[in-house]
Amino acid sequence: MLAQIDISKIPRHVAVIMDGNGRWARRRHLPRIAGHRAGAQAVHNTVEICSQLGMRVLTLYAFSAENWKRPQREINLLMDLLREYLRRELGEIHKNNIRLQILGRYEQLPQKVRQDLEDGLRLTAKNTGMVLNVALNYGARAELVDAFNAILKGMLDGGVREPEVTEEIIAEHLSTRGLPDPDLLIRTSGEMRVSNFLLWQIAYAEIWVTETCWPDFTRRHLLQAVIDFQKRERRYGGLGRNGS
Ligand code: FPP
Repeated sequence: MLAQIDISKIPRHVAVIMDGNGRWARRRHLPRIAGHRAGAQAVHNTVEICSQLGMRVLTLYAFSAENWKRPQREINLLMDLLREYLRRELGEIHKNNIRLQILGRYEQLPQKVRQDLEDGLRLTAKNTGMVLNVALNYGARAELVDAFNAILKGMLDGGVREPEVTEEIIAEHLSTRGLPDPDLLIRTSGEMRVSNFLLWQIAYAEIWVTETCWPDFTRRHLLQAVIDFQKRERRYGGLGRNGS
């Protein structure tokens, strides 16, 4: 499968909506958290293969701003699982020169989680390989609201006479500043939604959806997504190669 991939055309940024952990567990008569636990293993495999392919950025939607509506027990278990993941994987992430970044209002996460995340951010801050963005307490509309408020404040504080926003100014105030936009958006478990994820940044992303639930997502699925991406013709609103 690897042979089918054009290594010079690896998507620079892949974003993933990891969905279907609950359904995976239900089908096996297991508690939902078993699905999340299996999902953490799929995270491990995905980070590994993306880094090996030389991807510049991998963004994973791990906890949305809407996920607080879930039962407190499931939220607590998800937070524990995240901490467990960090403790288990940070050494290898660092060894592989991966830089961890968090997207979302992470200051609202439980203090222990914040501490572990900050340890990870510090440890990997100078790494120059793949950027691993983990979206936590993330919502794209909230991100845009925060960006617009920061822009407004900057302009008011700076006494700007004729305020004007541009696409570049907005992009510089998002949590993905400095990174290329996603070329490829993957969603598992067959849902056809973008769920308030990177709304600004996915303007030209190719979307790839699989029926596979996230815990069953393997290296093979990721490679297939990249192969399919490489077959697509990206037009950015222009005409195709044959002028149609
Ligand atoms: C969606 O499945 C998944 C989540 C809300 C959480 C994602 C978490 C993980 C993959 C595990 C830990 C993450 C890291 C970064 C270590 P769902 O529960 O919405 O599934 P359902 O739609 O089938 O109910």
